[in-house]
Amino acid sequence: MPFSVGQKVLLAHLMDDEGNKLVTDVLPEAGTTINLRITDTLTQDATGTFAYIEFEAMKVDRVKAERCVSYVDHQLMQADFKNADDHDFLRSCAAKFGIKLSRAGNGICHQVHLERFARPGKTLIGSDSHTPTAGGVGQIALGAGGLNVTLAMAGQAFPMKMPKFVGVHLTGKLNEWCTAKDVILEILRRDGVRGGKGFLYEYYGEGVKNLSVPQRATITNMGTELGATTSIFPSDEATKEFMIKQEREEDWCEMTCDEGVKWDREIEINLADIVPMVAKPHSPGNVCRMDELEPEKVNQVVVGSCTNSSYEDLMAVASMLKGKTLPPHVSMGILPGSRQVLSLLARNGALADMVGAGCRILESGCGGCIGLGFSPRSDSITVRTFNRNFHGRCGTKSAGNYLVSPETATACALKGCFTDPRTLGLDVPVIPEYKPVVDDSMIIPALPPKESEKVEIIRGPNIKPMPTLQPVSDLTDIEVSLYTGDDITTDDIMMAGAKVLPFRSNIPELAKFCFNPVDPTFPERALALGRSVVIGGFNYGQGSSREHAAIAPLHLGVRAVIAKTYARIHAENLAAWGIVPLEFLNKDDYADIKRDDHLDMPNLVEQLNAGKNVQVTNKRTGNTYECECVVSGRGLDQLMAGGALLQAAQ
Ligand code: F3S
Repeated sequence: MPFSVGQKVLLAHLMDDEGNKLVTDVLPEAGTTINLRITDTLTQDATGTFAYIEFEAMKVDRVKAERCVSYVDHQLMQADFKNADDHDFLRSCAAKFGIKLSRAGNGICHQVHLERFARPGKTLIGSDSHTPTAGGVGQIALGAGGLNVTLAMAGQAFPMKMPKFVGVHLTGKLNEWCTAKDVILEILRRDGVRGGKGFLYEYYGEGVKNLSVPQRATITNMGTELGATTSIFPSDEATKEFMIKQEREEDWCEMTCDEGVKWDREIEINLADIVPMVAKPHSPGNVCRMDELEPEKVNQVVVGSCTNSSYEDLMAVASMLKGKTLPPHVSMGILPGSRQVLSLLARNGALADMVGAGCRILESGCGGCIGLGFSPRSDSITVRTFNRNFHGRCGTKSAGNYLVSPETATACALKGCFTDPRTLGLDVPVIPEYKPVVDDSMIIPALPPKESEKVEIIRGPNIKPMPTLQPVSDLTDIEVSLYTGDDITTDDIMMAGAKVLPFRSNIPELAKFCFNPVDPTFPERALALGRSVVIGGFNYGQGSSREHAAIAPLHLGVRAVIAKTYARIHAENLAAWGIVPLEFLNKDDYADIKRDDHLDMPNLVEQLNAGKNVQVTNKRTGNTYECECVVSGRGLDQLMAGGALLQAAQ
């Protein structure tokens, strides 16, 4: 049977429920849960600090995945001592657990990973949604929550839904001034930001050979904006060439798509038909042709991000800027994707061309992409080469944020208004043959086990250990600390935003905000009780998949939630953190309970283990309620063990 590249990599990494390799040449049905063996992981600092606190809580000595890298690239997120403290924590965790660490200044995780670590035929999960960038070299690369990355580092399989497959058939060659960014914007124009949900986008056909690896990575990076599971290219001669230049030919293997694969959906793209495109505010799916825009004034231009900051991208920009001066009303910033890219630009004079034109060179990292350090002024227009333009993402809520290719961004900067680069009359940038500066001195290698043992984890005041995890026990005389209504969201439980973000690795501090919009007295009362139960209405825990909405209540002693119904992901998260998610079988029982009531569940463990309903008695009214645990299988195993981390450590 013919298989695509994505199908081959998935098949080669399937595991059964007992954690054994599954040998099969039959593709699992789309939508069924598969367990994927993960060879490689990555974390970035914004999500990584907590991932390593979780890893520590598992009491596993050392990572078991083959290639684990910790990146520091979002480093401008916090003021005062917190950045530096986090970096020390990440460095000491990497040394302790056998992980490589890419230091602050070495570049954006996905760009550096593509250059130094991504490899065809293997599997990668990362605690960052643009991890699919590595699909540019033929790797199955998936964004995931921190807990799943932690479990993968410890050698656990990654449970995921088997995707459907979209075959994107590429023919032809891009015309001058038309780029890989325009290809993915065209696909976003066709499919929209939800069109890719449940699909893996695989690129094949003779047009593939006309795209370089960095161009392919631009496309797979922004597959995330389609909502796709991931995106992948074959691994071919161009991939081999890329790996040789990166001095890691040993990581290369050929991965090609067989003739006659049956796709669930097909997209035809003749690269020669692609024209400069733009995603208008406030969605990456709000795409039109660049030449359809009126020439409105542009105030700020930023080139960079994990989508468009390769050497090729920035050389095109430098060549357009050489000998020019930016108009006085335009501010232009450039974030080189990696130290490798920056070094090469510095050595060949391209950096001087950018600076000479009046550009501001920003740190090799994420900063400007998340609205930090380079936000546009009020009510202005910013043109960016990034992947997201949600409302306020650039840091200025009243600004219009437009996403384009580096060439289009530079054309807009030079002209000071929306400009199709084809109309500017400039010479087409020619990217000279190059050899990257391969220098891994900013990547601290993993320590050998003997040396790791001696490493002490450095914990600044904002890094606190996980709440204590413990197996489920019977609950008697346990108080109701909170009685909530219908449609409680994960935001209600654990708010997000700038006020609480710095405490993502400091659960005691974060938990002070737990249930703040519902009842600000809850954290203090719950903590004083030591252990308690929360009562919910219909659709409890709807909204995001935020795991801190389970961890903060756990820290405050919540041992069980009884609700009329749950949002599924939140119920799974509760179980994954050892909190029992129970549902009233008779929804009217909800009205029999009040805050401060005392409940008895004397046979909880036995009933859960036997898969039976749980009897809950209210000591005030004397009534007993029949409740059902809403997780089963793996979720129930995790719950009984006291959470996924304890279960994985068993
Ligand atoms: Fe960083 Fe922005 Fe990419 S935050 S990882 S450059 S999407």
